[in-house]
Amino acid sequence: MSTVTDAQRMEKIVSLCKRRGLIFQSSEIYGGLNGLWDYGPLGVELKRNLKNYWWRVMVHERDDVVGLDGSILMNRAVWKASGHEDTFSDPMVDCRSCKARLRADQLIDKGKGRQCPNCGGKDLTEPRAFNLMFKTYVGATEDESSVTYLRPETAQAIFVQFKNVLEVSRKKLPFGIAQIGKAFRNEINPRNFTFRSREFEQMELEYFCRAEEGMKLLEYWKDERLKFYENIGIARDKLHVLTVPDEERAFYSKGTYDIEYDFPFGRQELEGVAYRTDYDLSQHQKASGKSLEYFDEETKQKFIPHVVEPSAGVDRTVLALICEAYSEDQAPDEKGKMETRLVLRFHPRIAPIKCAVFPLLKNKEQLVAKAKEIVDLLRPQMFVFYDESGAIGRRYRRQDEIGTPFGITVDFETLGEKDSTLRDTVTLRERDSMKQERVAIKDLPDILVSRIR
Ligand code: GAP
Repeated sequence: MSTVTDAQRMEKIVSLCKRRGLIFQSSEIYGGLNGLWDYGPLGVELKRNLKNYWWRVMVHERDDVVGLDGSILMNRAVWKASGHEDTFSDPMVDCRSCKARLRADQLIDKGKGRQCPNCGGKDLTEPRAFNLMFKTYVGATEDESSVTYLRPETAQAIFVQFKNVLEVSRKKLPFGIAQIGKAFRNEINPRNFTFRSREFEQMELEYFCRAEEGMKLLEYWKDERLKFYENIGIARDKLHVLTVPDEERAFYSKGTYDIEYDFPFGRQELEGVAYRTDYDLSQHQKASGKSLEYFDEETKQKFIPHVVEPSAGVDRTVLALICEAYSEDQAPDEKGKMETRLVLRFHPRIAPIKCAVFPLLKNKEQLVAKAKEIVDLLRPQMFVFYDESGAIGRRYRRQDEIGTPFGITVDFETLGEKDSTLRDTVTLRERDSMKQERVAIKDLPDILVSRIR
C-alpha cells in the first residue's frame, strides 16, 4: 500500500473514531491539550473489553498469577531507587529557526547533516536530557521535600509490594503479579493519534522466577503474548517480533523482545517483553533497607528472584484493534444497488456492542414488545443495543460501522402470523458475511455467548 493511501486510511480512522464516539480529543472545546485523549461511549467499551480479556487470560485462567492495583503517586524514593529520577529521559533538541522542540531521533539526515523535520532548518541545539516524568507536590508545601512524580510505569508498585503480595498469596516461584493502570510520560512529541500519548494505560505482568529459568520464560512469555494478540483478532502476519539488540537494551536486561504491529503509519511497538534479571528488587532492597528476598523451603536458600516482564499498552492495542478492524467493502443498499460499506471487523470478544436488536417496524406494538423482551433476555450476559429508527438496512449499516458482530431482527414471522412454526424465531445476521439465519429466541443466549467469549 502506498504512503498516501496509508495516510488517508489513518485520517479516515481518526475521523470515524470521533464521529462514532470511540475517541475524542481531550478538552476539545478549549482547543485540546496535546497528547491527551478521551474515550467516548464506544471507546470505553472497547478498552474495557480488552482489559477484561487481558485480566482473564493473565490472572483468572492461571494458578500462578495474582493481581494488584497500586497507587499512581508513590514515595519519591521509589523513583530514585528505580533509576527513573536520574535516567528516565529522552534526548531533546530545539530548532532555532521554527522553535520546534523535538526528540533527537526525530531529526532527519539526508546526508547533509541533521535537519529539522518541520522546516528543514539546520540551526539546532545540542541534544540535552529531558526527564519524561511529570513532577508534582504532595501536601500543602511546594518545596523539594514534597516532590514526587506521576508514575511513568505501573511496574514499580509491583516491585515495592513484592513482599506483601508474596506473604498473603503464599505463592511459590515462579509466579507473577499483574496490574492494569494509568501511566504518565511528558512525551516531547506526542504523535500518531493515541499511539504516543502523555497519559495512557499499561497492562503489566511481573513474573518472578529463579535465575536459571529467566531466558526460558522470556521465550514462553513472548509466545503467550503473541497468542493473545491473535486471540483478540490481530492477524499474525501484521505482528512482528523484534529482538532488541544488546546496545539498545537496558543494561540490566539479559534479553528483550518488542512485539510490533504494522500500523498505517509504520511498524511500531505494542508491547515489550523483557527479562530484567534481579535488578528492580535488588535496587529497592538496597534503597529501602528491607529484605525483598524469597525463601526456598526445599533448598533452605534465600535469594532475590529474577523477573520477566510482558508490558503492554492499552491505548496502543486499542488503536491497533481499530486499525486492524477498519475495512470498506461493497454491499447492496435497500434497492439492491451496490454501495461502499464501512465495517469495523472487531473480534466479537472485544467488540464494544455485542448485539443489536431491531423491531422491523417501530409503529407495530407487538414487534417492539418482542424486541424489548429479547433485549431483556440478553442484557444480563452482554452489552446489547436496541434500535428502532430508520430502514432496517440503514440500521445494519450503523452497527457495521461500529463493529457490532450480531444483529437480531424481529419481523412478522416472529409473531407467527404467516407460519406458526416460525413463531418466536428471529433472524440473526452476522456482520462480516452479512449471512442471516433463523434462530429460536430461546436459543439466542447460548448461541451468542458461545460466539462472543
Ligand atoms: N515497565 C516497562 C515499561 O514501561 P515501556 O516499553 O516503556 O516499558 C511499555 O512501556 C508499553 O507501554 C509500550 O510497549 C507501550 O505499549 C506503552 N507505552 C509506553 N509509552 C507510551 C506512550 N507515550 N503512549 C502510549 N503508550 C505507551
